[in-house]
Amino acid sequence: MTQEDYLERVTQYIKDSEDELAQFKAITSYHSGQYDDDASWKSLNQYVTENEDKRGCAPGQRNRVYYMALPPSVFVPVSKGVKKNVYVQDGVNRLIVEKPFGMDTASSNELGKELGALFTENEIYRIDHYLGKEMVKNVMTMRFSNIFFSQIWDRKYIDNVQITFKETIGTEGRGGYFDDFGILRDVMQNHLLQVLSLIAMERPISTESEAIRDEKVKVLKCIPPISPDDALLGQYVAANGKPGYLDDDTLKNKKSRTPTYAALTLWIQNERWEGVPFIMKAGKALDTAKVEIRIQFRNVAGSLYKGAPRNELVMRVQPREAVYIKFNNKQPGLSYGTIQSDLDLSYHDRFTDMKIPDAYESLILDVLRNDHSNFVRDDELETAWSIFTPLLHQIDQRTDLPLHTYPYGSRGPAELDAFVRKYGYDRSNAN
Ligand code: BG6
Repeated sequence: MTQEDYLERVTQYIKDSEDELAQFKAITSYHSGQYDDDASWKSLNQYVTENEDKRGCAPGQRNRVYYMALPPSVFVPVSKGVKKNVYVQDGVNRLIVEKPFGMDTASSNELGKELGALFTENEIYRIDHYLGKEMVKNVMTMRFSNIFFSQIWDRKYIDNVQITFKETIGTEGRGGYFDDFGILRDVMQNHLLQVLSLIAMERPISTESEAIRDEKVKVLKCIPPISPDDALLGQYVAANGKPGYLDDDTLKNKKSRTPTYAALTLWIQNERWEGVPFIMKAGKALDTAKVEIRIQFRNVAGSLYKGAPRNELVMRVQPREAVYIKFNNKQPGLSYGTIQSDLDLSYHDRFTDMKIPDAYESLILDVLRNDHSNFVRDDELETAWSIFTPLLHQIDQRTDLPLHTYPYGSRGPAELDAFVRKYGYDRSNAN
């Protein structure tokens, strides 16, 4: 690419004013080279150094971020090239790594070892872009700054927790990539498990990044590997004029059993959560696009109002961020019946003059500020894999695990309702 091609490509979606765009272009440049060629790396280093010098950056103040938005097969060679030729000994270096971080415990540990030999843990930022989403960042604030939540946040009051990820698009055109990963590796072992750890962790001793990450690791360590009995797997088939998963031309294995849908129940074996099912549901090619956290509370003991549905706290991550509580109210008027209503904080209605940053926008800023809070630490990653690896290996190796089909554009496998009922979820106020 030429510099012009590059600028056009990276700015085509930028909606800011012409002025801001011009400023952005003035500080953005493109330098091409080969991953496996030392001379390319040296010339990159020279190019960056000259740019720093031009901006009056003295030796010792060099501050470099290397962002590996690359195929995982080149993570290691590129990190080596950077370390050998571009890394500044007397400055600051930060390496951002995109997922996938391996395919299971063993491959992730191997990758970790190789990167760890080149960069310190403090220099590495493993991105999980869900941690940059506004509502995910809000989980801690909600839990630990509101007395009415902090006091009822346990097995005594909470019946079950559901974390749902739904997409309307299938894997058309990227089936070749997706087939090696499946929905569990693509969004559950990382994005949804990160959300779960924020909901379930104990209160950190401070808001420092290591304090937060310590608590996330601790709670993840209380989760045993997911049992196949707690998994419902599905794959979409052609419907409504849309192709099935197996119809994708980019798919090598036309008999693939890779799940595009899964509902998984995780159990946290600690004093706070023993016996509370955490149900994660994720799928492609479904009826709606949404991501939400739904906390369903227990029935009111000895309730005077039989049939009044359970309370729920819902945090809608996307689209249109919102927090709402489903609660029961007297039906207005002469009746003494109950009616369920919402205490609703919809961001777009309430925070009208506030811009909610894109997840990546906020995470890249965190890197520049050297804040690791919203990045995945090495021990956290290892623990996350330990929860998923045994099930993933069974899915990859066993052909007798049921794989339910569902039509493109539907709610998912028909077996889903029975699956969630098994864990006590009361659908009477579901929407
Ligand atoms: C990515 C997955 O990490 O997250 C994609 O690889 C998925 O398959 C995407 O579509 C979802 O991200 P978002 O921000 O659109 O919810």
